[in-house]
Amino acid sequence: MTNEETGPTWADEDWDALAASFDDEPDHGLRDPEVRRAWAARLRSWLPGRAADVLDLGCGTGSLSLLAAEQGHRVTGVDSSPSMVDLARAKLAGRDAAFLVGDAAAPPVGEQRFDVVLVRHVLWALPDPGRVLRHWRELLRPGGRFVLVEGVWGTLSPVGIPADRLTGLLAPLAGDVRVDRLSGDALLWGRDVPDERYAVVAVTGAGTP
Ligand SMILES: C[S@@+](CC[C@H](N)C(=O)[O-])C[C@H]1O[C@@H](n2cnc3c(N)ncnc32)[C@H](O)[C@@H]1O
Repeated sequence: MTNEETGPTWADEDWDALAASFDDEPDHGLRDPEVRRAWAARLRSWLPGRAADVLDLGCGTGSLSLLAAEQGHRVTGVDSSPSMVDLARAKLAGRDAAFLVGDAAAPPVGEQRFDVVLVRHVLWALPDPGRVLRHWRELLRPGGRFVLVEGVWGTLSPVGIPADRLTGLLAPLAGDVRVDRLSGDALLWGRDVPDERYAVVAVTGAGTP
């Protein structure tokens, strides 16, 4: 994540330029088998037990998309960076997966509906996350779920979204909201991390709120 300690802010990021080296971070590329296994186990615990349609928004190079596909799910990924989308398409070549260039806040999926909206390290930076979540809720089938991996990064001027704020935004949209704290699990990050990292799994009811 970027702030005054590590470089430019999110708004300044040139994601096309960053795409080629994006997977060099342990939790991005999941190249270390231990890190990969740790994310695969978490994802399995967050996704439905049966094959599901997963919408991975701000999918980057498709690392989580690939894990989901390996677990038997059908994946649609959306990212605003054409270079990220190219890498995701290559990473999931031959899989039941499709990748689209578009805005995560308004995914170009037409009338298609999904069992899971999966988002890692993207929602916090989108303008008006509450409005975005309400729109994503409309993309879910009855009983569908949000799987949102977010955090607060940095100490001098932290950026991100705290878990309690996110669960507050989800409360009107989903009946069952669970937070898994991830900061203490160094295997996920390839190192110890000092800041707040978590996943929220929020399962919606059968009806539209
Ligand atoms: C920190 S990366 C996370 C990538 C991926 N979710 C992961 O966890 O590996 C942020 C990603 O969001 C994408 N992105 C940024 N703003 C976006 C937007 N408004 N709509 C879609 N994608 C966006 C960037 O291109 C980048 O691939």
